[in-house]
Amino acid sequence: MKVLAIFGSARKDGNTARMMEAALSELPDDAEIKRVYLGDLNYEGCGSCRECKFNEGYCVKDDDMQQVFRDMIWAEVIFIGSPSLFSDVSSELKMLMERTWWMKGALRNKIGAYVVTGRRYIESTMNTLHAFMLRHRMILGGSGALGYSFTEMGDVEVDPLSIRDAHYTGMRIVELYELIYGNKK
Ligand SMILES: Cc1cc2nc3c(=O)[nH]c(=O)nc-3n(C[C@H](O)[C@H](O)[C@H](O)COP(=O)(O)O)c2cc1C
Repeated sequence: MKVLAIFGSARKDGNTARMMEAALSELPDDAEIKRVYLGDLNYEGCGSCRECKFNEGYCVKDDDMQQVFRDMIWAEVIFIGSPSLFSDVSSELKMLMERTWWMKGALRNKIGAYVVTGRRYIESTMNTLHAFMLRHRMILGGSGALGYSFTEMGDVEVDPLSIRDAHYTGMRIVELYELIYGNKK
């Protein structure tokens, strides 16, 4: 099982990361997991240059997103975590999403799953993640895990359903993977 875990919060050990690690702990021991922390990377959003559409066929911006593209193509499972920031995914994650415009078809049938943290209007954050995965024709998996949190690190653990649902998300990834790939490692 090849899993790309995209950490969408600037805080590497915040609420989102805690939920992500809870989900990842459900994956089999031999799962290959690549963790990408978007806050560590240097990249920009889409420049609307249309090079990918009319000329080169791929994103020509030469920055850290190029390795993320390679990781996304490598992965069988793309697992994303985002805090809800002003009712949507983090800006780091939104930039990543924009930059995948050229990847149409490349993510088809990969398993997609996510966790979201926040406390209000977080459904619109989920909508953005759903739209991203569905537009790429990914298989929407997970369990819709929401971590109710306020602003401080570790708040998410005050909500017992958050961590439980994160574990369910990991379990659902495994269930879908076995359905699609059988016992392939
Ligand atoms: C700039 C900013 C905007 C935020 N906007 C929202 C919001 O619209 N809705 C919400 O529920 N939480 C909002 N929050 C709270 C975060 O979603 C919450 O603290 C989250 O758990 C942070 O994740 P992290 O610990 O992984 O960084 C916001 C926090 C920040 C810093």
